[in-house]
Amino acid sequence: MPSFIKEQVTSVTHWNDTLFSFTTSRDPSFRFKNGHFIMMGLELEGRPLMRAYSIASANYEDELEFFSIKVQDGPLTSQLQKIVVGDEILLSKKPTGTLLQENLLPGRNLYLLSTGTGLAPFMSIIKDPEIYEQYEHIVLVHGVRYASELAYQTTIEQELPNNEFFGYEVRNKLIYYPSVTREKHTNNGRITELMLSEKLNRDIGLPSFSVEHDRFMLCGSTAMLKDCGKILDNLGFKEARHGDQGHYVIERAFVG
Ligand code: A2P
Repeated sequence: MPSFIKEQVTSVTHWNDTLFSFTTSRDPSFRFKNGHFIMMGLELEGRPLMRAYSIASANYEDELEFFSIKVQDGPLTSQLQKIVVGDEILLSKKPTGTLLQENLLPGRNLYLLSTGTGLAPFMSIIKDPEIYEQYEHIVLVHGVRYASELAYQTTIEQELPNNEFFGYEVRNKLIYYPSVTREKHTNNGRITELMLSEKLNRDIGLPSFSVEHDRFMLCGSTAMLKDCGKILDNLGFKEARHGDQGHYVIERAFVG
């Protein structure tokens, strides 16, 4: 399989019955932008089985990281969830994607709206020191059904604020807003409801969304992308398309 890069699994984290993440080695020549996705998969019965996965690690890190659901009868994830340290995964050579700061018009606040494994590209983005230079606030919203799906909380709440290079920026600018829909939690409700009711804005102490100041990146299920996009369109925000900068970007490469 000459068109794919092979990397070795270096760690695996099982968050719960439905979610896991893993890190792999990284060829130093493999370059990507924070927010990019790539085709990743396994060689199964002599053939590559590949799916689009966002890269959850930052582009300056030595290892690559991926965040995945486990689907018992899913052709890839039924096998991928069994990987252990030392196993090989396949990667395409061309990372790509729309969740890039350069696709957005300058703004004051950056909202990263995710559901489920849609969190992955934003894990890369919130580790990017440059993002903190561009915005006054970075608001990371993660919508899940159950609290056990709130992966990466320790990284977001404890590791990043103590990062020796940009921990200060994280402490001052990053607002993390997890929301759970199917059991009681500190924050409840779908992202769409939180946007429409402005409960999100009230809870985090930021003003109503404004086309002038607010920018958005969206990553989640098809339904979530459609509904959040509609809310933003109705408020007058324009999606960045065809290389033109806009007020928001959507990753449509996968259903996360
Ligand atoms: P809910 O529990 O009300 O369905 P999923 O695992 O199905 O992708 O869902 C992840 C999270 O996204 C859940 O909290 C779910 O809420 C929520 N969700 C599902 N559909 C939408 C949508 N169209 N807009 C916003 N949030 C959604």
